[in-house]
Amino acid sequence: MEILKTTDLCKNYGGVQALKNVNFSMKKDEIVAIVGDNGAGKSTFVRNITGVEQPSSGKVEFYNDEINFSSPLEARSAGIETVYQNLALIDHLDVAANIFLGREIYYFKFGPLSWLNKRKMNKQAKDLLSKTGVTINQIDQKLVNMSGGQRQCIAITRAAGWGSKLIIMDEPTAALGVKETRAVESIIEGLKSNSIPVLIISHNLKQVFKLSDKICVFRQGQMVAQVNTKDVSEEDIVAEITGGKKEKQYAI
Ligand SMILES: Nc1ncnc2c1ncn2[C@@H]1O[C@H](COP(=O)(O)OP(=O)(O)OP(=O)(O)O)[C@@H](O)[C@H]1O
Ligand SMILES: [Mg+2]
Repeated sequence: MEILKTTDLCKNYGGVQALKNVNFSMKKDEIVAIVGDNGAGKSTFVRNITGVEQPSSGKVEFYNDEINFSSPLEARSAGIETVYQNLALIDHLDVAANIFLGREIYYFKFGPLSWLNKRKMNKQAKDLLSKTGVTINQIDQKLVNMSGGQRQCIAITRAAGWGSKLIIMDEPTAALGVKETRAVESIIEGLKSNSIPVLIISHNLKQVFKLSDKICVFRQGQMVAQVNTKDVSEEDIVAEITGGKKEKQYAI
């Protein structure tokens, strides 16, 4: 079953054509990697699926329904969790509050009156973090004091913790150390074994080859290749990324 499909997806920023007729598709039980040089249109592609921006033209289907989310929150309620390249976390809130953003648990909520159930949120946030193998000592610590890697781990925990229909990660390990990168990779493998599809953008080809079933290559706003990972070599992918000479022919 196709879970995400785009047909002739285009995005223009003024005169810049950041996405040109992208025809992408992914199935359930797949980890799909998007690769490409800086400025190739990868993050733009994600933003135009997840409601951060709206496409200039073209069609997006999610589990066979045509979608056009007007906000990231709408995409989340439809079951798409995204870890953005520029993290959408809130500095002045603590770890648990960030994990529960938009999903807060209340003792009661009545009009403007509400009382957050911090104890329950802290406990569940701790459980989620430990499930994803991330160690954060203080759950009530504000994010402003945390390192880039720790923040990234929290964002990934938030995305992976909620049994969603699709998880999108834009460069999830670019800012992480060796240990944290391994933790994130095992989170992704765990999601796959729980049949949660993952779309990952990464510049790290070793990681892409280790994790993905399919690779999509973006170059100058176009998707120039969509291949099964097992059918290609790193050299093939580098050639597609740079537009250089291909060593062999394979289906797009
Ligand atoms: N808000 C915007 N306004 C104008 N141009 C934009 C905007 N966002 C992106 N672009 C342009 O669109 C192109 C694609 O950018 P995008 O961020 O999608 O690249 P990317 O593949 O994610 O690159 P990277 O690997 O560096 O993250 C770039 O040329 C960029 O300058
Ligand atoms: Mg990007």
